[in-house]
Amino acid sequence: MRVIITGGAGFLGRKLARALLERGTLAGPDGAPAPVSRLVLFDNVPPDDLGGRAEAATGDIADAGAVRRLVGGDAASVFHLAAIVSAGAEEDFDLGYRVNLDGTRNLLEACRGLAHPPRLVFASSIAVYGGDLPETIEDDTPPLPQTSYGIQKLVGEQLIHDYTRKGYIDGRALRLPTIMVRPAPNRAASTWASSIIREPLQGRDYDCPVEPGVAMACLSPRRTADAFIAAHDLPGDRLGLKRTLLLSGIRATASDMAEAVARNAGNRRLGAIRWRPDAATMRIVRGWPGAARGARAEALGIVPDGSIDEIVRGFIADDLADGPAAEGEAGR
Ligand SMILES: NC(=O)c1ccc[n+]([C@@H]2O[C@H](COP(=O)([O-])OP(=O)(O)OC[C@H]3O[C@@H](n4cnc5c(N)ncnc54)[C@H](O)[C@@H]3O)[C@@H](O)[C@H]2O)c1
Repeated sequence: MRVIITGGAGFLGRKLARALLERGTLAGPDGAPAPVSRLVLFDNVPPDDLGGRAEAATGDIADAGAVRRLVGGDAASVFHLAAIVSAGAEEDFDLGYRVNLDGTRNLLEACRGLAHPPRLVFASSIAVYGGDLPETIEDDTPPLPQTSYGIQKLVGEQLIHDYTRKGYIDGRALRLPTIMVRPAPNRAASTWASSIIREPLQGRDYDCPVEPGVAMACLSPRRTADAFIAAHDLPGDRLGLKRTLLLSGIRATASDMAEAVARNAGNRRLGAIRWRPDAATMRIVRGWPGAARGARAEALGIVPDGSIDEIVRGFIADDLADGPAAEGEAGR
């Protein structure tokens, strides 16, 4: 079974690729587990070398010909993660639409040409919500994007619905909360929620641009990769006409994150966190929900992390060279 990850060189693409290789199987066209015989990582930058266990395909998702060649005649399943993320799409209007909208359409058109409609999982975002939001967004919170990125994700979801309705794909879209901890900062306004954990744990001081009480809907990359795979494997009739699922993100404030770092640091020498709220970042994050509760996804077996400590420990175990925190007193 040939499986494609677009955005395969990115933060979540890499995590998903590793999770798929570890698992080795996915639901095949008949729903029964089938071996992933070929894993193709498509991106416009080269992906990690996964020891020859995955193939790199370099190209631009906005190039319809390149995407047709990628999908070929035999793609069984596609995970569509390639995107220009939030601040990037906001700053460059044309690039955002080209990659996030035209790119998605190119991929769907290429899939439409296949003899068997492939399962396709699309990475959407809680950026589809906006305006006067409740503290916790839920399945029935109406989308009202306030950024070009949010609009592009919402349109992407609708395209997934329409191509599925027509029988061209068997699609699913996941509205992701903030996934953390990223191994490096990016241009998203939410990047502080990763930096406040990553930087001190690597011995570097961090100037946090939000107030300690600012809350974020958080999900770990481990749970996210599991969610992509679980959503892929769900039989289409369990989803019915509603192909978009909101994923739960637990509530954690910036000070909860700082405390979880101190609790789980073991004997690492921690960098200091200095509170340096920045007016521009505060204006953006003030409108964000502090948590997301996707009851429908949870009922389908797609579950959130148990705590912010679990997220911090997962980062230490998976991404820090010295692995799980050594036992002992946290040094500060
Ligand atoms: N990480 C999060 O917190 C989060 C939250 C909500 C939604 N998402 C969505 O999940 C997906 C993955 O996010 P991520 O955090 O891994 O982002 P990322 O920026 O690390 O990865 C996106 C990848 O897409 C690639 N890409 C960009 N333009 C391309 C093009 N023209 N052609 C081919 N590839 C291109 C990039 O090179 C990058 O490797 C994205 O669709 C993002 O919008 C992420």
